[in-house]
Formats: sequence, structure tokens, C-alpha cells
Amino acid sequence: MAILKIARMGHPVLRQTAEPVPLTPGSSLPPDIQRLAHDMIETMLDAPGIGLAAPQIHVGARLIVFRVPADRATDAEGDKAMAAQVLVNPEFAPLSDEMLLGWEGCLSIPGLRGVVPRYARIRYRGYDLDGNLVEREASGTHARVIQHELDHLDAVLYPDRMPDLTTLTFTEEMKYFTGAVLQPS
Ligand code: NI
Repeated sequence: MAILKIARMGHPVLRQTAEPVPLTPGSSLPPDIQRLAHDMIETMLDAPGIGLAAPQIHVGARLIVFRVPADRATDAEGDKAMAAQVLVNPEFAPLSDEMLLGWEGCLSIPGLRGVVPRYARIRYRGYDLDGNLVEREASGTHARVIQHELDHLDAVLYPDRMPDLTTLTFTEEMKYFTGAVLQPS
């Protein structure tokens, strides 16, 4: 296990579309991908963050890790606490047009937070490290972190999604806004 160096905004790897990971459904992923995923989980937990996408550790592959901490889960349907998860070649679709504004941070943009609109409810799918298809419906923090991490695979950073850049703020100044200081993803 190893803690990996996280690319920061401005590094070109964050602005390149990631490539699908070759896999055979039902077959375990190769050892190098397994090791990468476990190192990404360790890096995410160390940071600490709630999500990390492979481009953030300078690997242009469609692989993300994420978690839903108990203190961030709303316990709504699709937003329960979840231990660290791995998703390979993930994709999502919104379940309705409803969008919610919420604070986000990013381990590639340290020290800052901003208010970002995301779909309230989504369905997503991807593969786990055993090559099994994972399909879930998500809402709340769970839905938000998935959308944030999948954006990384398509070279999008959360400020690109912000309708109002006046909310882009240093964490120390969040006292001027109502809302919690959130862990970055
Ligand atoms: Ni991020």
C-alpha cells in the first residue's frame, strides 16, 4: 500500500479524458489495477477525502474510489453510509431533472470550497475489482460524490460547474456562509 501524490488544478492530467480500463465481466482485474485501487483508497482516507479519481493521481484510467461517511449520509433512500468502494468504468444517468445545490471541495483544489448543482437522484453502474457489475441508485452525498468523481474522468473540475463563482471560498472563510465545512473529494 502506498499514499500517492495528488495532482493539483493546473496539471494537464486533470484536463485529459480518461481511458476505459480493459476488463472481462466476471473476471478479476489484473494485479496492477487492484494495487492502484487499494493505493487510491489509502490516499483518499489519508487526505482525508470522500472520493478520488485516477486522473487525480496521474493515471488516465476510468477508475474511481469513494465513500459516504456516516456524518455525511442523510439516511434518505440511496444515501446511506458506505465504506470505501471501487468503481471501474463507471457511468451514471439522472433519475429526474431535479438538481440540488451543495458545497463541494476537491483534493486537487486544496483549501477551497464552492457551491455546485448536481442531479438529486441518479442511477449508476460500473465494475468492482472482481469484475462484477455494480448498479445502484443514489441520492444526497452519495449521488453528489459519484457525479463529482465521474466528472474527473471527463476532465471536468467542480468550478467548471459553478453557476456563481462568488461562492468559491477558502475553507477558513466558510464561516461567512451557512453550511458545513465538507471533506473534499
Ligand atoms: Ni475532485
